Amino acid sequence: MIEKIETSLKDLLTSLQTGKLYGARHPITEKSIAKAYSSLRDVLTEKAELVIGIIGEELVFEKEVFFDLSNFLKQMVIHLKERGIERIAFNRALELSELNKFIEFLTLPKEELKGEPGELLKLAGVNNISIGKVKVSSATDSAGQAQASDLTNLYQVSLESISSPLTKVMNNEVLDGLSLKLVVSNIVNNLGTYYEQLFKLATLKRYDVGTFTHLLNVSILSMHFSSRLGFSKDVVTEIGLAALFHDIGKLHISRKTIRKPGQLSSQEFAQMESHTVLGARLLMQYVDAIGIMPVVVSFEHHLKYDLSGYPRAPFKHKQHIVSAIVSVCDVYDALSQRRSYKTDYPPDMIHGIMMRGSGTGFEPALLDTFFKIIGVWPVGSIVALSDKRVGVVVEENEDNIFLPLVKVVFPEHNGEVVNLKESKDSIKIERYLSPWSEGKEFLHLI
Ligand SMILES: [Fe+2]
Ligand SMILES: [Fe+2]
Repeated sequence: MIEKIETSLKDLLTSLQTGKLYGARHPITEKSIAKAYSSLRDVLTEKAELVIGIIGEELVFEKEVFFDLSNFLKQMVIHLKERGIERIAFNRALELSELNKFIEFLTLPKEELKGEPGELLKLAGVNNISIGKVKVSSATDSAGQAQASDLTNLYQVSLESISSPLTKVMNNEVLDGLSLKLVVSNIVNNLGTYYEQLFKLATLKRYDVGTFTHLLNVSILSMHFSSRLGFSKDVVTEIGLAALFHDIGKLHISRKTIRKPGQLSSQEFAQMESHTVLGARLLMQYVDAIGIMPVVVSFEHHLKYDLSGYPRAPFKHKQHIVSAIVSVCDVYDALSQRRSYKTDYPPDMIHGIMMRGSGTGFEPALLDTFFKIIGVWPVGSIVALSDKRVGVVVEENEDNIFLPLVKVVFPEHNGEVVNLKESKDSIKIERYLSPWSEGKEFLHLI
């Protein structure tokens, strides 16, 4: 088995080297990729997933086997590390076309890789190869790593830091409340400086990648919203923590029900709704570690401003302000995510949908403030302008939420920023270019 893995890695790195020399689509490269694919297939018939990591300058398999690499292969390791890749996982369902795209992706000059490499690869349609940083072992390590200000990895590190505590709560395990608080305060500390980058990543990540992403996005959004509302840093941290756990009850509910397209049966509906109570009950066991706020928010986040919503209690009661903040952010992120049960909603449509809930679903003043802060077109949105140019939103205008500042990226990419509010030619945003379809070709420019 080890020999097979070694062969497949050598073939893989050889095809990367060939791709660098001849270009990814040259017949010689294609032949080399086909060879790597067949040796990878040999491994994947025996293992469902092959995960390799780079630690120092060595390739590592399951943290035990180190390969004695020749110098030319070491060059490849450096090549991967320069692109922020320390971990590659190949799934059994891997297709040859995906391996071709992967090699092509790796041969792009590193300056062209703007964004988190793992996500860029997913956006290119490669689903059976995932890449990223080597998983950090403890929450404190993650906090340290995030402080190293590697912005492109900040989101990924945050996501990895929260996976372990969330999984523990899900499995009813003992939770180290202190480490968790450290992780959240670290995210909060970075928020002030790196909010735009984090939010931009959250904007790009709005496609179906799972519940943890939704939880992190809602947490980031809630912290930003509440800090702009004027809450102290300590309270903002509490809010971020509560937001992080708001849907923990959902993880107990069959994924089939959550992602089912079309109508749910009344029984399935009741099961979905029970995630609020289920979550609150689970979180009650961790009050000593993380406080009471996560319990309150899990229980109340689907209650509405007009006292409707669920869970239906014998007496109606008003949402806690923290639950109200999290609900706005929750609905916003849920509408932004690409899910199997609905089509994509561009940001202006989401604004319209949420504003129709003003006074019923949401407290009007709170909702207005939310959109003043994040705008109709959030920072990071790729947009087509009425003068036929393409740009990316870089800043909001609080007094006109429809007209933000947009950096032009196409056809000319010279850093020009247009303040739509003051544009003499009344340039407007014509439409949103989704990063997983029309906007994809501009991703490397932003
Ligand atoms: Fe929920
Ligand atoms: Fe949610």
